[in-house]
Amino acid sequence: MEFPKLRPRRLRLKENIRSLVRETVITLDDLIYPIFVRYGENIVEEVPSMPGVFRYSVDKVADAVKEVRDLGIKAVILFGIPEHKDEVGSDTWSNEGIIQRALRVIKKEVPEMYVITDVCFCEYTTHGHCGVLKGDTVDNDLTLENLKKQAVSHAENGADMLAPSGMMDGMVRAIRSALDEAGYTHIPIMAYSAKFASAFYGPFREAAESAPAFGDRRSYQMDPANAREALKEVILDVTEGADIVMVKPALAYLDIIYRVRQMTLLPVCAYNVSGEYSLIKAAGKMGWVDERKVMWEVLTSIKRAGADMIITYFAKEVAQDIIKGR
Ligand code: PBG
Ligand code: ZN
Repeated sequence: MEFPKLRPRRLRLKENIRSLVRETVITLDDLIYPIFVRYGENIVEEVPSMPGVFRYSVDKVADAVKEVRDLGIKAVILFGIPEHKDEVGSDTWSNEGIIQRALRVIKKEVPEMYVITDVCFCEYTTHGHCGVLKGDTVDNDLTLENLKKQAVSHAENGADMLAPSGMMDGMVRAIRSALDEAGYTHIPIMAYSAKFASAFYGPFREAAESAPAFGDRRSYQMDPANAREALKEVILDVTEGADIVMVKPALAYLDIIYRVRQMTLLPVCAYNVSGEYSLIKAAGKMGWVDERKVMWEVLTSIKRAGADMIITYFAKEVAQDIIKGR
């Protein structure tokens, strides 16, 4: 009987040695928590399809951000649900817009929190598309003009970083030059560079009231079948001045994260989107999987694929586990 000479199991026999050889670790420094801010007062309401995720009115949002801060999370990304929608989404560049009001409150009450804003129009337009419509399609260049106004307004109200998510051609360059002209040369842009037309956004669209009233987003978001095109989008955004590039969704696109990481020198963000969250929550609730373990496994896979940072609805639970020393 010949016994094995090479025994990888030696490094797996105790947690002490397993942790010494562990290649991928998620820390609080890697996490960005999404927050939904809505119109109205005194509202903290759970999103039905996203257990544990809430929508907050402006008067409640600072408490939500403090909770996130107290868990050791250092960055949030804001999404707004305005009281009034219109054809072009003018709430996005109004000084009294939902995001502008939330920014002022958060920056006053929790100035140490790093606040990223999602820059898009779908939550703010009556038709639910990510820009200005011409006929039944989104007009790219008219939308760029409005993106500039939205971006400068977010900067004026205290945003630390802007994250354009509409997949308009030239959006990074348009926003960069608008910010620079207005004197906000220090504000970075995190581009949703490779954003796919995905069914995993379903729960988010319920939370943000942003489902398109007709059609879908396939004329601007990417075809899930395309990887080379994702690299092209990243190259364009880098050329246009993006500071961080993003891949979204994450779990069904780990190959894209990996390839973007290999290709660019910029930091890479991955968005662990709403549907990825809800699937795990639902299966956990049914008792079919161990929710916390699946959460850790999925987030670890995203980091292992090459993400430097992860936007995730699980951020608070991750932080709780880290604090407990899981
Ligand atoms: C808006 C936007 C979406 C998400 C982030 N920004 C939805 C969409 O494109 O329809 C999705 C986030 C998620 O599913 O968690 N452009
Ligand atoms: Zn949008």
